[in-house]
Amino acid sequence: MNLILLGPPGAGKGTQAKRLEQHYGIVQISTGDMLRAEVAAGTELGRQAKAVMASGKLVSDELVIAMLESRIQKPDAAKGFILDGFPRTVAQARALDAMLARLGLKLDRVIELKVDPPALIERIAGRFTCAKCGTGYHDSFKPTAKPGVCDVCGSTEFTRRPDDNRETLTTRLGAYMQQTAPILPHYAASGRLVSVDGMADIDAVSAEIEARLGG
Ligand code: AP5
Ligand code: MG
Ligand code: ZN
Repeated sequence: MNLILLGPPGAGKGTQAKRLEQHYGIVQISTGDMLRAEVAAGTELGRQAKAVMASGKLVSDELVIAMLESRIQKPDAAKGFILDGFPRTVAQARALDAMLARLGLKLDRVIELKVDPPALIERIAGRFTCAKCGTGYHDSFKPTAKPGVCDVCGSTEFTRRPDDNRETLTTRLGAYMQQTAPILPHYAASGRLVSVDGMADIDAVSAEIEARLGG
């Protein structure tokens, strides 16, 4: 099964992608995570993306499309994938259509997570991630079971994203409204769009997605 998860910053794309990975045995492909890895590794791509990401604007279509195209052809993606954070512009959506046709792959569903802006701010402001295994948490909505210790790997080191501040979030939300939301009608027209209430709690959102995908 090949899926796209669409939604504004903080909508829960990463959270739900991890659950879909486990439930369906498919792989999460997050362009945001890939770009952050490039920044951390200090590659040329990371160098070009760093300031753009910190400002909350979108990295150029050219760079992201090339990165996605090579990722989607890795062996682990053959069992199915969930695109998290891609496509994000009309140009990326068109490039994805062409890429899938070229590779003989089909897109099953596009899941839109709908969440109101005030809730997004609250979610982003409380988010933190295990520095060792990458598990995502939230100060109020998904705290670690034992304070300061990762539930999954036991690490005591956590990180917060440099773009997770109110000012940058405003730019990120603006980019979503102006550049990403216009791709929704494209997927609605082909009958693949599934809109889900992303305001519910994490388990309820997962349950709705799985039900809408047929279990
Ligand atoms: P990216 O990494 O994709 O960030 P984003 O779209 O801003 O989304 P987030 O990762 O912030 O949110 P999420 O929806 O994954 O929410 P999460 O599950 O963590 O992109 C970052 C940057 O990279 C972009 O700004 C751009 O510069 C660049 N970039 C990436 N892709 C690009 C592309 N294709 N083209 C161009 N540039 C690109 O949840 C958030 C928090 O809420 C967590 O703490 C979680 O625990 C909590 N939470 C989740 N669900 C719920 C719930 N139902 N109830 C309560 N809390 C919840
Ligand atoms: Mg994410
Ligand atoms: Zn961990």
